Amino acid sequence: AYWMSESGVVDVMLLSGPTPARFFSQYASLTGVTPLPPRFSLGYHQCRWNYNDEADVRYVHGQFEALDLPYDVLWLDIEHTDGKRYFTWDAHKFPHPKEMQLELAATGRKMVTIVDPHIKKDSGYAVYQEAHDKKLFIQKKDGAELDGWCWPGSSAYLDFTSAEVRQWWAERFAYDKYEGSTEHLYTWNDMNEPSVFNGPEVSMDKDAKSLAGVEHREWHNLYGMYMQQATWEGLLQRNEGRDRRPFVLSRSFYAGSQRWGAIWTGDNACKWTHLEAAMPMLLSMGLCGITFAGADVGGFLGKGGGYGDPDAELFTRWFQAGAYQPFFRGHAHHESARREPWTWDDATTARLREVAKQRYQLLAYWYTAFRHAEVTGMPTMRPLWVAYPKDAATFEMSREFLAGPDLLVHPIAHKGATSASVYFPGADPWYDCVDGTAYAGGREVRVAAPIDKLPVFQRGGSVVPRQMTLRRASALMKDDAYTLVVAPDAAGGAAGELYMDAGD
Ligand code: GLC
Repeated sequence: AYWMSESGVVDVMLLSGPTPARFFSQYASLTGVTPLPPRFSLGYHQCRWNYNDEADVRYVHGQFEALDLPYDVLWLDIEHTDGKRYFTWDAHKFPHPKEMQLELAATGRKMVTIVDPHIKKDSGYAVYQEAHDKKLFIQKKDGAELDGWCWPGSSAYLDFTSAEVRQWWAERFAYDKYEGSTEHLYTWNDMNEPSVFNGPEVSMDKDAKSLAGVEHREWHNLYGMYMQQATWEGLLQRNEGRDRRPFVLSRSFYAGSQRWGAIWTGDNACKWTHLEAAMPMLLSMGLCGITFAGADVGGFLGKGGGYGDPDAELFTRWFQAGAYQPFFRGHAHHESARREPWTWDDATTARLREVAKQRYQLLAYWYTAFRHAEVTGMPTMRPLWVAYPKDAATFEMSREFLAGPDLLVHPIAHKGATSASVYFPGADPWYDCVDGTAYAGGREVRVAAPIDKLPVFQRGGSVVPRQMTLRRASALMKDDAYTLVVAPDAAGGAAGELYMDAGD
């Protein structure tokens, strides 16, 4: 291995393991763990750049309701704001933000709005003017306020490396400061690398300075983490005395970011190879502690980004893979065609409903895996070798993975594929989750995978809790019965766990 340091300092820690489980807990003791996420955030998230206005939100939400499609969160991208001034709403498109959120909340849904770190330089924008007066922005080498180009045009960048700035930022999320926000609103932090369109490597000059006088080259990788932390603190602080778990999604991250929420892999494209690439990416992130992670389902860049829009096959396969990855969100570029689950044909909608149903049936199982991650650092989505460290055949395998301890998932990531060669690790049998077919461990077998089938198998020796009633939102499943699916090992035994709490 070869390390280079931008600023001359490298800290190297050697974690001695020797088992994967020991390694994860050692790494967690250094960098922290993901606190148990609010349960709703493990459901399906529907995002797009952008849902146009309140009528559009109502339409999309209404379709999920009418078509019996489970989803938990509807997302608004940068166009919901007044001219990319974060913490504001476009008064024509979103005149009633609170009522809109309450309407979603009435059926158990949440909303997420985007809040980016670049602040529009506009003396009429209170967030900018106050931060400017208090001198909370990153400076150029000569001490002047840095001016960078991003979505709003000319922008200043808050110095999230400063604890004082982080506290100031956290206060922006108070209900009386973030007008139009309610307790049903959560946050998406993007462009926090930090992205500066006209800067070197699309970021800031290396010699830009934090308020403490430290150069950007030192804290570049920390910027996004500190921003997500500050946002997280804000979502905690807004509910004085009434603990509610925050949910914050960030694009930029560093070792330790797992403490402040979820991460997604950024702007992928609508291509089969990007569906496939999501697997090694998410597995690598999990190994590095970032266990609440996902990739944009459908591939962010569609027609507008120079790619095609997903056809029913690609979208179905992506939706299947996403349903078994920790953070499950559909998203799309603003110039791409609409791709909500009903935008193809009825058969596709039915298939997607079936996939979403599988995700919701397993929410308690995911929740339990996240509880484990919180206590032990064990990633929720793992490479096979984590559980089978003596089986060399698994060492480089990323075409299939383990979702939690007991499910083996082999997403179909190739156009036209109707079968897959699945490797079954270990000595115990594996059982097809749909029809119960048993496969002996330690072998590779070609299994059928027509378009309506994602190959998923339960480990012999496990008990997986499922909630079988179809609900359209996780909140509605609170009192639903559990079905325990028992898969015996070679000796006829099985064990499992189920972690439950109020979910928020
Ligand atoms: C960035 C994000 C993308 C978002 C867009 C507009 O490209 O990665 O997810 O939709 O900005 O905010």
